[in-house]
Amino acid sequence: MAFFTRVAAEYGGIARIRFGRNNYSYLVSDPEHIRQLLIENRAAYIKNTRYKLLARVLGKGLLLSEGTDWNRQRKIAKPLFKLEALHAQVNRGRADVAHFIDDLEQRAEPNRFFDIEPEFSRLSQLLAGSWIMGDLFRARAEAIEQIYLTATKVWPAAPRSALAGYKPPPVRAVLELKKAFSDFDKHIYDIIGEYRSNTSVDCGMIPALVNGHKEFTGEELSDKALRDQLVTMFIAAHETSGTGMCWIHYFLSKYPDVRARVREEVTNAFGEEQPRAEKLSLLDYTDRVVQEAFRIYSPIHSLSRVAVEDNRIGGYFIPKGATVIVSLFATHRLTKYWKNPEAFDPERFTAEECAKRPPFAYIPFAAGHRNCLGGTMAMLQAKMTVAQLVQRVNIDLMPGHPIELMPSTTMRMRHGMQVSLEPLRRSAEASKSNALMLAAG
Ligand code: HEM
Repeated sequence: MAFFTRVAAEYGGIARIRFGRNNYSYLVSDPEHIRQLLIENRAAYIKNTRYKLLARVLGKGLLLSEGTDWNRQRKIAKPLFKLEALHAQVNRGRADVAHFIDDLEQRAEPNRFFDIEPEFSRLSQLLAGSWIMGDLFRARAEAIEQIYLTATKVWPAAPRSALAGYKPPPVRAVLELKKAFSDFDKHIYDIIGEYRSNTSVDCGMIPALVNGHKEFTGEELSDKALRDQLVTMFIAAHETSGTGMCWIHYFLSKYPDVRARVREEVTNAFGEEQPRAEKLSLLDYTDRVVQEAFRIYSPIHSLSRVAVEDNRIGGYFIPKGATVIVSLFATHRLTKYWKNPEAFDPERFTAEECAKRPPFAYIPFAAGHRNCLGGTMAMLQAKMTVAQLVQRVNIDLMPGHPIELMPSTTMRMRHGMQVSLEPLRRSAEASKSNALMLAAG
């Protein structure tokens, strides 16, 4: 990340980087060049599927498919992302967030620290899984969580230096990963089997995806194609959101004044009532806090494309076959658009400040035809979760806990996020009873 940031700062909007012998990649950082890559020259590029491990897990779902397959999949999925449907889903998810906080509260003791990263991952899996696969997922949520934990432990660690390259993982890790993939697939195929056997259980998006495919092509969607769609949506939705939650709460813990202002805004909007998705637009400041967290540590830290024909970006020649990278991390730190870029400052996202920047200076959800389909949902869910959490607890980072970036498929924390938890109700009750005791002498 530091390397890309330095290259972007020193060499301007576009730079050619040599990784090993005769292996060149192009880093595109300036907003105008990003526009050319993702919009104007979009026909000259496809998604990069050279990272085989991820391509194997995702298959040919929306994230990695191309051409008419992608076009059809996107058209079929799009109606599922209408604002009204998203509001209904976020409102349904409130009970899960509330249970999640109940669980966390059980661990609340002064000076008791635990890693909240896997907890946020568990929550985001449950929210995404039940949205995408309904109750068929919920029945397997715990088993899938365990598989996911194993897979994350043995997933090849990101190297600490851009030029170090990926070391092949040890054989044992490869075997464990293979087993985790096949266990995960078995659950997904079981879900598909149950759906096909005409279950009356809530199946989330599955019926719309299957029926949409039939309407478009006149053919049945195969189990494998449905598996690819479900796995892609599930991973695209939860991995990013879970990571995002960590970073948002990292900043809220680091800046108690920001947290107090978020809490005040939530209290003004909802009091002690559960927040409503339709009214999350009242949370203006919270929205800016989430956006700023996603600027500094964008859950997807980079995009990668492969040129399928010779073309030019910003006047520079990009040959067919070249890999072109956009480091969101570096672009979100260009001093031309972000003064003092390492500083956490939600006021960068007032309407006035946003209007001063070119559109592609901030792209946590990418841009153009391959932009994030779930961007609106991600923002709604992030704000809903923050609102519910600040109503009930303080999450505080363990003093001295090292925060080191680990840019894997998403921007993770290499050492997790050790925190302690303080329930506000308990502390409010404690101070009330202290006051009563004092009054009683
Ligand atoms: C904080 C949360 C999220 C972030 C930061 C995020 C970010 C992104 C980014 C940067 C891309 C473009 C990747 C590329 O071009 O290589 C993308 C694509 C995508 N995202 Fe998200 N995402 C988030 C949540 C979600 C959610 C909740 C869903 C819901 C299913 C979702 C579904 C997708 C899909 C389907 C694509 C592929 C779109 C296509 O290629 O047509 N994402 N996301």
